[in-house]
Amino acid sequence: MKHPRGALAVVLLCLNLGVAYAEDHHAHAPAPDGRAVLELDPDERAMIQEEMRLFLSGVLQMTAVRGKPDMPAVADAARNLGQKMVHEVPPTLRAKLPLEFRQLGFSVHRDFDQITHFAESLKEVSYSLNQLSDTRQNA
Ligand code: HEM
Repeated sequence: MKHPRGALAVVLLCLNLGVAYAEDHHAHAPAPDGRAVLELDPDERAMIQEEMRLFLSGVLQMTAVRGKPDMPAVADAARNLGQKMVHEVPPTLRAKLPLEFRQLGFSVHRDFDQITHFAESLKEVSYSLNQLSDTRQNA
């Protein structure tokens, strides 16, 4: 693994989320493994999973620093995961998401906007990767 710090952020974020899906559980009741369950339609579930794959793809772009860091590319990847992503969630789906989930989501999107800001101003790849790693503290 060329970029263990970035990979760690991805793995820890996903391990700590504490949320699962199931269509045969009551909303927000705990799953057998203790995670909360979101009751979503298949389309809504697909939308969340798509968002997750966007997260993963953006994080991979940000950590794909080979030799010479491409800070504009880091900033662009982070910007795509920032608050602008929030506006793409339909109100009906948003209404089904527990407060804790939405707060975590907002916090992580805000973190990505911060990463964009410093990638453009400081242009220091190690700073950006540290910020990415710290983002998992919120998740
Ligand atoms: C850098 C940030 C993140 C990355 C890279 C990431 C990545 C992923 C990936 C790859 C999946 C599996 C997607 C699939 O099944 O196709 C996933 C699932 C999930 N993620 Fe994220 N995620 C991130 C942040 C978040 C945040 C902030 C939340 C909640 C606010 C969240 C909630 C979930 C949930 C609920 C699932 C489904 C878990 C399950 O199916 O049991 N993730 N994530």
